[in-house]
Amino acid sequence: MSEAITEQMLTALRAEMERTLSPTRFAHTKGVERMAAFMAQLYCPTLESELRAAALLHDSTKEYTDARQLEILAANGVALRPDEARAPKIWHAMTAALEIPVRYPVFATPTVLGAVRWHTTGRADMTQAEAILYLADLIEENRNYPALVVLRNRFLGADPKTLAPDARLVLLHEVLCAALAQAAEKLGEGACADTLSALNYETDVLKGK
Ligand SMILES: [Fe+2]
Ligand SMILES: [Fe+2]
Repeated sequence: MSEAITEQMLTALRAEMERTLSPTRFAHTKGVERMAAFMAQLYCPTLESELRAAALLHDSTKEYTDARQLEILAANGVALRPDEARAPKIWHAMTAALEIPVRYPVFATPTVLGAVRWHTTGRADMTQAEAILYLADLIEENRNYPALVVLRNRFLGADPKTLAPDARLVLLHEVLCAALAQAAEKLGEGACADTLSALNYETDVLKGK
């Protein structure tokens, strides 16, 4: 399906995001697109166009009010778990994934929808596209929060292009695990159950289980 997403479609989608997002969020969105494209080339080149589309769409509903997010969830029959209900910041990942098939149907592939749906929390056993968008969102070039700069430097500083495939994959899991650990620590009691199960899963992967 990825070959169905053309450069022209991505350009039009980028322009649409520029029209609808605040300048700061649009700059972040373009940064995520660039990082996701770079990571796709490293890990799954055939998914590059879908990952770029997912990056462009990942925060497409983030500027909606909480009330509008809840309306979309209710209209789609989504019942939030208590940990999700306590974390309004994660709702936009769910609402964006719900709106893409309606508002941007040409981009509604399983890869795009999965990557968008899990970009804020992660989940256990993420697909490569999900893992890439989760990380690209955190380490794109505009992020300057010190802990995220550390993550970006850890990834780029390892010069992933030069690594053999196995070592390159280990690097992805290491940085992903560090990012999830950081999120779990920062959010404490408020951490989403999906983030904690993602962290447990990635910890086990790195232990070689
Ligand atoms: Fe987001
Ligand atoms: Fe984002």
